[in-house]
Amino acid sequence: MNTIYQKVSADAVKQADQKAYETASEILRRGGLVAFPTETVYGLGGDAKNPEASGKIYAAKGRPSDNPLIVHIADLEDMEQLAEQIPEVAYRLAEKYWPGPLTMVLKKSPQVPYETTGGLDTVAIRMPDHKVARELIRRSGVCIAAPSANTSGRPSPTRAEHVAEDLDGRIDMIIDGGEVGIGIESTIVDFTGEVPTILRPGYINEEMLGQVLGEVKTDPAILSANQEKGFRPKAPGMKYRHYAPKGQLILFEGSEAAVAEEINRQAEQYLAEGKSVGILAAEETAERYPKGIVKVIGNREDEISVSRGLYRVLRDFDREGIQIILGESFEGGRLGQAIMNRMLKAAGYHVVRL
Ligand code: TXA
Ligand code: MG
Repeated sequence: MNTIYQKVSADAVKQADQKAYETASEILRRGGLVAFPTETVYGLGGDAKNPEASGKIYAAKGRPSDNPLIVHIADLEDMEQLAEQIPEVAYRLAEKYWPGPLTMVLKKSPQVPYETTGGLDTVAIRMPDHKVARELIRRSGVCIAAPSANTSGRPSPTRAEHVAEDLDGRIDMIIDGGEVGIGIESTIVDFTGEVPTILRPGYINEEMLGQVLGEVKTDPAILSANQEKGFRPKAPGMKYRHYAPKGQLILFEGSEAAVAEEINRQAEQYLAEGKSVGILAAEETAERYPKGIVKVIGNREDEISVSRGLYRVLRDFDREGIQIILGESFEGGRLGQAIMNRMLKAAGYHVVRL
């Protein structure tokens, strides 16, 4: 398959971009696949109500078919078509945080095929806050089922080049709207139990949800202390070793000085064994590492730069064939839980605590 590649402006829908949107909309309406930017990561989109399109998404990604897709909408009425028995608190959350990096799990309506929900009676719905995503949903008239646009198990794409790296020749079109803003996937909240429950941490954190919902729980399986113990998460996709680079990532937790000392010690050791070594560091501490290939993920004072940089840096290490990646940890702050959830998975829970 020849994948069409089109650049569009990310901050406005320009006249010059009309043809790209038209082409993409046609592809979606006839059951094809289009990768597009959202504010979190790039998504691989297909018509959520077309079981064949969902089948193509699983095939293109090599994704296990029990791992349900998130359906992207542009208007609240779409939620009412796709879901049933929507609780009042879900409306309140939508009002506060949609469009935005928040996904809600609700009871599905008969309009959503089981192929899209991985066989579940629930459906995950999100209204993205990105000009390109919104224009595509509106223009096509399609509710877009979209997982992250990476090959299953690889880091999510934060740039169109990342999508091409994984899926070129396997999908109909890639819309390039530049680098995304947040860089890690949306927060998922499940409304189908007694108490709203966070199934995946993200930019909209527990405190922000609590302000609207009052009571909110976190799936115990995603707390970092339990992540390593093999708790079974409720979101099917959270159980896979995910977001992973090809090299072995090892994380180091402790004081800045202790972390730098231990990373430098291990770097020398691996280099002496003839391995290629990468070091994943914050801008503030990058200069502490004289050996190995040092890559800056972001600035600790600007947490979003860290979340945005994580997957990019992991992919860059992969492209350079780095075998061992020694990484600083980024716990704490308002995004710490979400960032560490991804980092721990990428590391296969290999953490050195100092
Ligand atoms: O930010 C995002 O959410 C991105 C962009 C493209 O919107 N999408 C994304 O999709 O991260 P994906 O497929 O990579 O992750 C979806 C997660 C998986 O862990 C899946 O198991 C969970 O959502 N999920 C989807 N439907 C669900 C449901 N009905 N119940 C529980 N978990 C569900
Ligand atoms: Mg994904």
